[in-house]
Amino acid sequence: MNSGINSFYPESDIGITREDEDIMKKEFVIGVTGASGACYARRLLEVLCQDAKVHIIISEVAEQIAAHEGVSFEGFNATYHAINRIAAPIASGSNRFDGMVVIPCSAKTLAAIANGYADNLITRTADVCLKEDRTCILVTRETPLSKVHLRNMLTAEDAGATIMPACPGFYNNPETINDLVDMVVARVLDHLGVEHTLAERWGGYGA
Ligand SMILES: Cc1cc2nc3c(=O)[nH]c(=O)nc-3n(C[C@H](O)[C@H](O)[C@H](O)COP(=O)(O)O)c2cc1C
Repeated sequence: MNSGINSFYPESDIGITREDEDIMKKEFVIGVTGASGACYARRLLEVLCQDAKVHIIISEVAEQIAAHEGVSFEGFNATYHAINRIAAPIASGSNRFDGMVVIPCSAKTLAAIANGYADNLITRTADVCLKEDRTCILVTRETPLSKVHLRNMLTAEDAGATIMPACPGFYNNPETINDLVDMVVARVLDHLGVEHTLAERWGGYGA
């Protein structure tokens, strides 16, 4: 007698075992790079870990900045990959995860991704997303933007990335920093196709 998920997917039919229940979960990669705003990455990690399989890669500078900004990525039910582990499964297109978010995304990592310079696990995994036509969201954070940054954004977007600058709206009347963080993360989750209640949706005003 099958139960739970296996009542819908009899093992004898398609070979899914009880141990494979995780297979139904979406699987995402989070890359954290050395731009300000580690809090965005932590919030995304927190939400995605509730119902998805999550891989996280943190660059060396991102580690330093997160420590400086008082943000920790420890203790989540995620797979932590070393930035230089270029042979990790997610570095191959044959590994079928659903998408990646680089959050925050430094101008340097943006440049690397836009130009296919896949020298670490974050840039390589983003490269995989672009070549495999998978979601690749770059939450850039820099201001002002030089022509180099703007060109790289356009190049990355042309290659299939979604550029989502860490740029919260104020139309929900945020009261705390957490509200502002959630405004940004909510839009990222929308683009990943993940349900959430992080921020109210605009309902219009006036008559
Ligand atoms: C405290 C601090 C804050 C930084 N903030 C930004 C930023 O907001 N945006 C950015 O593009 N670079 C920023 N940088 C510069 C990047 O960290 C630097 O270009 C680094 O080489 C990025 O490497 P990574 O993308 O491999 O993490 C910052 C550096 C430091 C030390």
